[in-house]
Amino acid sequence: MHGVNHMTIPIRKFDTLVIGAGGGGLRAALQLAQADANVAVVSKVFPTRSHTVAAQGGMNAALANVLPDNWHWHMYDTVKGGDFLGDQDAIEYMCHAAPRLVVELEHIGVPFSRLDNGKIYQRPFGGQSQNFGGAQAARTCAAADRTGHAILHALYQQNIRAKTHFFDEYFAIDLIKDDEGYILGALVLEIETGEPLIIQAKTTLIATGGAGQLFRTNTNARINTGDGMAMALRAGIPVQDMEFFQFHPTGIAGKGMLISEAVRGEGGYLVNGNGERFMERYAPNAKDLASRDVVSRAVATEIHEGRGCGVNKDHILLKVDHLGSEVIRKRLPGIRDMVMTFLNIDPIDAPIPIFPTAHYTMGGIPTNRFGQVVVPQQQGAEEPVPGLYAVGECACVSVHGANRLGGNSLLDIVVFGRAAGNHIIEYLKENRYSRVASQCSIDAAVAHLARWDQRGSPMGSGASSETVDGLRNELKAIMDHYCGVFRTEDVLRAGLDKMLKIEQRLQNVYLRDHSKVFNTARIEAFELENLVELALATVASALARRESRGAHMRMDHPQRDDVKWLKHSLFFKGGMLDYKPVRMKPLTVEGFSPKPRVY
Ligand code: FUM
Repeated sequence: MHGVNHMTIPIRKFDTLVIGAGGGGLRAALQLAQADANVAVVSKVFPTRSHTVAAQGGMNAALANVLPDNWHWHMYDTVKGGDFLGDQDAIEYMCHAAPRLVVELEHIGVPFSRLDNGKIYQRPFGGQSQNFGGAQAARTCAAADRTGHAILHALYQQNIRAKTHFFDEYFAIDLIKDDEGYILGALVLEIETGEPLIIQAKTTLIATGGAGQLFRTNTNARINTGDGMAMALRAGIPVQDMEFFQFHPTGIAGKGMLISEAVRGEGGYLVNGNGERFMERYAPNAKDLASRDVVSRAVATEIHEGRGCGVNKDHILLKVDHLGSEVIRKRLPGIRDMVMTFLNIDPIDAPIPIFPTAHYTMGGIPTNRFGQVVVPQQQGAEEPVPGLYAVGECACVSVHGANRLGGNSLLDIVVFGRAAGNHIIEYLKENRYSRVASQCSIDAAVAHLARWDQRGSPMGSGASSETVDGLRNELKAIMDHYCGVFRTEDVLRAGLDKMLKIEQRLQNVYLRDHSKVFNTARIEAFELENLVELALATVASALARRESRGAHMRMDHPQRDDVKWLKHSLFFKGGMLDYKPVRMKPLTVEGFSPKPRVY
């Protein structure tokens, strides 16, 4: 497709455009389609390949099927896990809704594992407690170790039944709006043909997932390039709390793939090169089931201080062989398959070498608990962006604060997918007629699309030494090195300088002649642009926050500082940073005030 002319771009009209077909997008789409709204879902990959499919360990809900539990304890654990940065109204809403949402998933066909009494199986996960910090709880509802796979397939099938309209393998370029700032859909690109399409909608929901591809070693799918967050930035919307990126303690050493926390939930534990269960020193009560930030730092510290395993002392071992063949085959079959495939080790017989790996974007597009995207106004107030919603990992509602608890991600997507769907249904009742998109917003999106068209070399050989692959690899190496588990002012400042240079060098990237390359090369160029925006947001926000909280560990400011820093960051395109207060007041119960966080 050459020489884009917006006059010739076809337009399709819907009530709602959902961008992204993971659990959040599909849960919202289902709510809408079942209410007879006309819904389009645009997905960069076939929907059941969305990254929700990779979620292993499970979904938290205080069902009390295995041990005593209630939603208020779940709320406390989530607030504490997030190091008191989470918004407590949204956290209460999520934890209270959780049991009902699990039952609802069961009713639409999710095959949860069972206890002998027929109830849904629940396993212990990190940071879970009974009675506000007491004994370990067992709150994570699981379908063996393939829970996300089960949920995504059930939601997709229900959407097909409800007649949701899918645009599979389409890539969203930019949002479009009217002159009053109402968001009215997006310009998208059909990946196979390279043809653009304007999907105009009365409401638009971004559900594009996280940005794990910012890092070289990560658990994420190749598709997780933060496209929705970058699209929001280009539309003038800030991204919130980007300095908080979760490193999962147990990635396969040297490769990064996820070894679920479920392994430790089932009784696996970590040992260092001296054969010591070192987590007892870092978290005397919770040990291996402390929250992820605590365990990741402990693993990195053991290696850094020379107590790693193997000839190079560069990893830690996750011991599971004592669990026995029956537990591993029944509860962790996917983990066993993966470890056998990638390491040629059978965890029934031998421990798994692990190392922390980039896993989850706690930050994202700021929203309220109805999924409405909100932006700051004068004097600390915030206002919804009319017609625009965001849910799931691309959003920051914020229920995970500075560190997400394992098992709260699948919960987040179904709770807020449903909530956003319900809010949109009400919005559509009051906004029945289509608005007119502004020419200037369509022109801007089309100009962005055309930018990579004009970057082809007429010689077909590349006019510059800069390539998409080369720059992307450099970006990831910078993020690993300068914005990892442990951070300091000097290292972050050097990382920011390097990222600013990458941003400049992006202007010199040329694609080969389009007649000779696949359209996917152009998609990768757009993805790289998105990653550059988000890398800058992450490093700049991390540099500015001079305290340690949750996943953001500043060696030069090792304490949490609630006086100066109990606030959310907002990063705007161009580099400006602003801050807004944490919503400390829950909906119906007393709030939890910050206190020292020990496990
Ligand atoms: O460890 C895991 O199974 C991951 C779960 C999660 O990130 O919630």
